[in-house]
Amino acid sequence: MDGKTLAVRAIGRPLDRFDGPAKVTGTARYAFEHPVDRPAYLFPVQATVAVGRIVAVHTEAALAEPGVLAVLTHENAPRVASTDDAEMTILQTPEVAYRGQFVAAVVAETSEAARRAADLVGVDYRTGPHDVELRPDHPDRYAPAVVNGGFATDSVHGDPEAALAEAAVRLDATYTTAWYQHAQIEPHATIATWAGDRLTLYVGSQGVHRLRDSLATLFGLEPERIRIISPYVGGAFGGKLHAHPDVVLAVLCAFAVPGRPVKLALTRQQMFSQVGYRTPSFQRIRLGAGRDGKLVAVSHEAVQQTARHKEFAEQTVTPTRVMYAAPHRSTTHRMVRLDVPVPTIMRAPGKTPGMYALESAMDEMAIACGQDPVEFRIANEPPVDPELDLPFSTRNLVACLRDGARRFGWAGRDPTPGVRRAAGGWLVGTGVASSVYPVYQLPGSSATIRLEPDGRYVVSIGAADLGTGTWTTLAQIAADALAVPVERIDLRIGDTALPPAMAAGGSSGMTSWGSAVVEAARRLRAREAAEHVDGIPASGIEAAADMPENPDRERFSMYAFGAQFAEVRVHEATGEVRVPRLLGVFAAGRIINPKTGRSQLLGGMTMGLSMALHEQCVLDPRFGHVVNHDLANYHIATNADVGTVEVHLLAEDDPYVNPMGSKGIGELGIVGTAAAIANAVQHATGVRVRDLPITPDRFFADGASVVR
Ligand code: MOS
Repeated sequence: MDGKTLAVRAIGRPLDRFDGPAKVTGTARYAFEHPVDRPAYLFPVQATVAVGRIVAVHTEAALAEPGVLAVLTHENAPRVASTDDAEMTILQTPEVAYRGQFVAAVVAETSEAARRAADLVGVDYRTGPHDVELRPDHPDRYAPAVVNGGFATDSVHGDPEAALAEAAVRLDATYTTAWYQHAQIEPHATIATWAGDRLTLYVGSQGVHRLRDSLATLFGLEPERIRIISPYVGGAFGGKLHAHPDVVLAVLCAFAVPGRPVKLALTRQQMFSQVGYRTPSFQRIRLGAGRDGKLVAVSHEAVQQTARHKEFAEQTVTPTRVMYAAPHRSTTHRMVRLDVPVPTIMRAPGKTPGMYALESAMDEMAIACGQDPVEFRIANEPPVDPELDLPFSTRNLVACLRDGARRFGWAGRDPTPGVRRAAGGWLVGTGVASSVYPVYQLPGSSATIRLEPDGRYVVSIGAADLGTGTWTTLAQIAADALAVPVERIDLRIGDTALPPAMAAGGSSGMTSWGSAVVEAARRLRAREAAEHVDGIPASGIEAAADMPENPDRERFSMYAFGAQFAEVRVHEATGEVRVPRLLGVFAAGRIINPKTGRSQLLGGMTMGLSMALHEQCVLDPRFGHVVNHDLANYHIATNADVGTVEVHLLAEDDPYVNPMGSKGIGELGIVGTAAAIANAVQHATGVRVRDLPITPDRFFADGASVVR
C-alpha cells in the first residue's frame, strides 16, 4: 500500500444509514416483495425419512386441486447440467439424504392452493438405517483434505505431546458447542422467472455474482442469461452466501411454468433443514505452562459433523494457531459424516466455536497458574504470528485488554469464585475473553464510476448490504476516494447487471469492494484532470477498475482483535443466568462509520450472548430432525435477555491492510463473547460449565447446588 492511506473526510463519520428511511417506512423491497406480473406460488414437499429411496410418488390428488399449475418430482423435474454440488442437486434422483430434503414441489395460482396441494402429495419410501448423532469417539471420524477457507486440517509445531507431559501446570478439558440454526429475520425467499431464455431472480443474497455463477454451472446456462437482483437483505450471517436448495427449487419450478414468476418464501420451520447451520463441536484442549505462567504447549482437537452427501468442514481450531505464543503446538480437525443437512458458515465460522473453547481454557489455565486472566493473556502474547512466522500488520490485543479492564473496572477483582452476592439470591461474577478475526481480501471485485452532468458520481459494483450498512459505508469510501462530499455519490449495488463483486463473506466486503472503488476513483480523477474543458471537468467520463492485489498481504499477518468483559448473575436457587453487562473493546483498523460499525459489534456480542445462554437445536435421533424447529422453541436472545452492551473502538492505524486502513467487523464481535460469559459464570458460582448453552440444569448435576 506504499504506507499511504486515503485522506479521510466522509470516512470516520457516524452517518445515519442512507437506506434507513426506506426500511422503517417499509418501502425498501426485500426479495419476496418485488412487484411482478401474474406470480405463481411454490410450496415444497419434504422428506419424512432421514435415509431412503423414493419408490412411488402420488401426485394425482395434488394435480386435481383447483389452481395447481404443476407438481414437480424427481420423475419429471428438469434435469440439471452439473451434479457436482450434491446439496443443490435436488429432484434429480429418488435418493433421500436427510430428513426434510425437498422431494417434490407444487406450483399454484395462490400460496394457499400450493400449500394445500403439497399436503396431498404422497411419497412412499424404502428406508434404511440412519445415523444423525455426533459423538466425539464416533468410529467414522476422518480428517478432511482441508477445512473451510482452505486452511490446513492439522498443524504441528515442535513436540507438543512431550511438552505437555513435562509441563509444570497442565490442563486437559473438553468443551462442547451446540448445533446453531441460521435464523435471519428475513426468511430465505426467491422470485424466479424464466422468460425468453433468460432467468431473472430476486433473492436476498450475500453475493449476486457468486450465486449467479453457481446457478449457471448447475443449470448449464451462460452466466449472462441469469440476472439476480438483491438490493436489500434482511440478515444473512453466512446463511445467504452459498446457494441453498430453496433457490434451486424456485428455478426448477420457473422452468416448469415459463413466463410466470414463481415465488417461494421458506417457512421458519423449513429453514431448519434447508439453509444451513453451524456444526456442533467437541473440542479437547490441552495446555501446558511453566510455573511462571508462560505457555509451553497448546493442543486443540475438534470433532464436528458434516453431511454424508456433501462436506463442509468448519475451521474451528484455526484461532488457536494465531492467538498465543507457545513453542509446542498441535491443532487438528476431525469430521463425521452423518445423515443430516449440510452445515455451513455462520458468523465467524471456526473462530466463534474455537474461541469459546480456547478462551475458556485460557481462563482455567490462568486460575491454575494463580494469575489474573487479563495478565495471563498478556504474558502469552506472541511477538509474531506463531503459525506463519510473519509480523502482524497491527496487533492491539494487549491494548484492548488493558483498555477494557480499565473501562470495566477489572482492577482489584477478587478471583475467589462464588463469594459475591446481590440482593434476591443472585451470585455475581465477572469474566474476560479475547476476540479475533482475520482481515480477508477476496479477489474478483470490479467497480465503475461515471461522472454525471449534474456533478453526481454513479458508483457501480455488485456488492451486498446484508443490513450491515454497505449502502452508506461504501458511499463514504467513494466520496473520500473522489474527494467530493458524500451527497454527490450515487451508489448502485446488489445486481448482477453491475460490475462483478466478491460476495460479502469473511467480513471482507469493505476491504475487497472498497479497494476496487478506490482504484476506480483514482483512475477517474486522472481522467478528470486530463479532460478538463475550460477548467470544468468533463461530464460523462467513466472509469473502471478491478480490485488491485495488495502485496503487503504476503508480508504481514492481518487480524482484528478485541477484548470482551462480562458481568453475570446466577440465581442460587434456580440456576438462571442473567448478563446485566457486556463490554467490548475492539481494534479493527479505521472504522468507516462508527454508527453502523458499532451496530455490527453490538449485534455480534448479542449473538454471542445468545449462543452462551440460549441457542441449541435439539435433534431427535429416532427421526433425524430438529425438534425445536421454530422461534418459539429455538430461543434467540431478545431485548429482555440483553442488558447493557458497551462497544468501544480503539483508534488503530494500519497502513497495510487496504487503502482505507479498515478491517472487517461483521464477525469480530461474536468471537469470545460466549467464553467471557462462561468465565464469569465460573467466577460467580465456582461451576465450570464446559458445554453450551449454559442452561440452569448445568448447575444441578447429580443433585448439587449452584455453589460448590
Ligand atoms: Mo460470513 S459467516 O463469512 O458470511
